[in-house]
Amino acid sequence: MPDLVSAPSTWRHGALPDLRRRTLLHGAAALAGLSLAPAPIPTARAAALPAVPYVSTPRDVVERMLAMARVGARDLVYDLGCGDGRIVIEAARRHGARGIGIDLDPERIREARANARQAGVQDRVRFRQADLFATDFSAASVVMLYLLFEVNLKLMPRLWRQLRVGSRVVSHDFHMGAQWPPEQIVRIRDKTLYAWTITPELKQELAG
Ligand SMILES: C[S@@+](CC[C@H](N)C(=O)[O-])C[C@H]1O[C@@H](n2cnc3c(N)ncnc32)[C@H](O)[C@@H]1O
Repeated sequence: MPDLVSAPSTWRHGALPDLRRRTLLHGAAALAGLSLAPAPIPTARAAALPAVPYVSTPRDVVERMLAMARVGARDLVYDLGCGDGRIVIEAARRHGARGIGIDLDPERIREARANARQAGVQDRVRFRQADLFATDFSAASVVMLYLLFEVNLKLMPRLWRQLRVGSRVVSHDFHMGAQWPPEQIVRIRDKTLYAWTITPELKQELAG
């Protein structure tokens, strides 16, 4: 059985750090203080984002990610960096959701489309070759990630801005630093999964 650990309530209520006052690096350093993080702390100098390699999420971990996001038939699931498409394909096949997968690599997109046809869900899922940072994912009710810590940090303000209140985000192995503590942490073997929900408070942070 996966080991489910709820985030401390002090993370969930109040005290959401202000994006305008705290830098992302500050958030990462604070997180190191919480000793939560398996992820590396970026160096002080702004560096180009590391390339995210293709590593697929094991099938049972995919199912657990979908369960954490409570994916159902009314959801539109985006996987930003979708690889062979397995997360959105499973969301459609097992949960009746619709899905959109985005990947930079044209080979992954070809593979994902073929996998969707084979799974018989080609009418419910779409795959696009694109940069996730140039993608409008505001229609998503669920966003799935398996990227890197530094990439998550850059993506975080876009998630806050684009997603509606109530949308869920689940990330495989990489969190978002102390600026956005997860609501839920699940451990499966050597994997750690993190889940967040877009709240009215996050939207107010952005507007303020
Ligand atoms: C670790 S794999 C995860 C694949 C899939 N989400 C899964 O969990 O099985 C990360 C994927 O992100 C893609 N990727 C990396 N940077 C990207 C970017 N800027 N925009 C879109 N896709 C990207 C890579 O090509 C790779 O397929």
